[in-house]
Order: sequence, then structure tokens, then C-alpha cells
Amino acid sequence: MPVITFANTKGGAGKTTAVLLLATELARTGHRVTILDADPQLWISHWAELSGTVHNLSVISHVTMASLETHIRENRANTDCFIIDLPGTKNPLLTMALGISDHVLIPVQGSAMDARGAAEVLEHIEFLNRKMGMKIDHSVVLTRVNAMVNTRSLLLVKALLAQKNVRVLDTPIAERAAFRDIFDYGGTLAGLDCHKVSNIDKALENARHFTNEVMRLMPVRVVRSGRDLKSFARKAA
Ligand SMILES: Nc1ncnc2c1ncn2[C@@H]1O[C@H](COP(=O)(O)OP(=O)(O)O)[C@@H](O)[C@H]1O
Ligand SMILES: [Mg+2]
Repeated sequence: MPVITFANTKGGAGKTTAVLLLATELARTGHRVTILDADPQLWISHWAELSGTVHNLSVISHVTMASLETHIRENRANTDCFIIDLPGTKNPLLTMALGISDHVLIPVQGSAMDARGAAEVLEHIEFLNRKMGMKIDHSVVLTRVNAMVNTRSLLLVKALLAQKNVRVLDTPIAERAAFRDIFDYGGTLAGLDCHKVSNIDKALENARHFTNEVMRLMPVRVVRSGRDLKSFARKAA
């Protein structure tokens, strides 16, 4: 039952979008997912309202520091993977979410400006390790990457992170209309209307690769404890 948190103290980094891609892809492949919506702007909760029932996926709204652990405890038995969507600010909830996560994903857009909110999360993870001996596994995922080109600023961000020994996922999340439209139409990528939204197949493929890579990063102990996550462990081997 892994807990995965998406964190970046800057709004607009692509956290919520990445949460939804991972959650819907895991649900599509048979995993029971609970999204903990801890962003007061409630983007995921609005998406859930618009979507109606999505098989294998539930969303808990208004998650606070006080309620986070209770939600996890109460839903542990019926969840294969928890995904936490955090607000774009630095607050005590960030510390708590980082502390209970099996993996923290830090979305970074391919521009130096956006790397600042990520740097803040990385520093916080380092701080928790130094002061409290907490080893929090984490990776950066590049988001809103132009599917065609590797821009100069993107390469710069990658080089900076490599210098700091920060893991960057091989699969970036591309800039795609489908990733935006899913919030307007509700439902999943596979359910979008191909007459209204372009390149749904490419968006699905991107979500699939991203999800597979994230699952390969899960510690084996966690993967083994998940009901259906065993298949990912086999793939990763
Ligand atoms: N991969 C993407 N492709 C297209 N639009 C994106 C993508 N990622 C984010 N966006 C858009 O960028 C804006 C901010 O993204 P969001 O996921 O809400 O970031 P955050 O949760 O970090 O504030 C939203 O309008 C969203 O639709
Ligand atoms: Mg958000």
C-alpha cells in the first residue's frame, strides 16, 4: 500500500495533473487507488464530482494535517495505492505528507523559475534526513515538456539536478491538450472524445510509461504488500 506524494511549493508546477494521470492509469490497470486531496482549491475533488464513479478510484476531499493519517488508516484495507495532492505552498502539511510517503514525486516544468519550488521541497527532504534521520525516497518528474523538442532550459534544469544527485525520471510528462481537457470533461483519458481532443493515444501512452516507471521505484516490501502491485515488481525485476 504505497503512499505517493506530489510536492512542489510552487503552484502551477503540474502536481495535480500528474496525480490524476498516475491515479487513473493505476485504476485502469486494476489497482484500487485513493487520492487524498489536500489542496484547498479542490481541483481533484471537482474532477471527481464531474466524473461520477470511476472504477477503482476514490477521492477524499478536504484532507488536512489533522485528518491525513486517519484517512490512510481507515482506507488501508481497501486501497492498493494512496496518492496525495498537496497545495502549492510551504506549510506543515508538507512535512507530514513527506514523512509518511514511500515516494515523493517533485514535478518540475522545464524552466529555471519553476525549479525554485522544487528546490524548496528537496531542501526540506534533506533537512528531515539531517535532523530526524528520515530517509525519504524522491524523484523529480519533468512536466509540460514539449513532445517535439528538448529545450535549452529543460536541459539546464536536468544538468542542475544531476549535479545535485537528484533522480530525474526518464519519462517526462508532455504538454498535451488531453491532460488539460480531462479536468474540463471529467472521466479518464481513455474516455475522452477523439473528435474533441487530439492525440489521446499519445497521452495514454505517456501516462502508461510514467506510471510504470513510478511503480518500478516503489520499494519491493511495499510493492509486495499491495494486492495487485506484484505485477509491477515482476516487471521491474
Ligand atoms: N502536461 C500538461 N499538459 C498540458 N497542460 C498541463 C500539463 N500539466 C499541467 N498543465 C496545466 O497547467 C496548469 C497547472 O497545472 P496543475 O497540474 O494544476 O499544477 P499544480 O497542481 O502544481 O498547481 C493547469 O492549467 C493544467 O491544466
Ligand atoms: Mg494542484
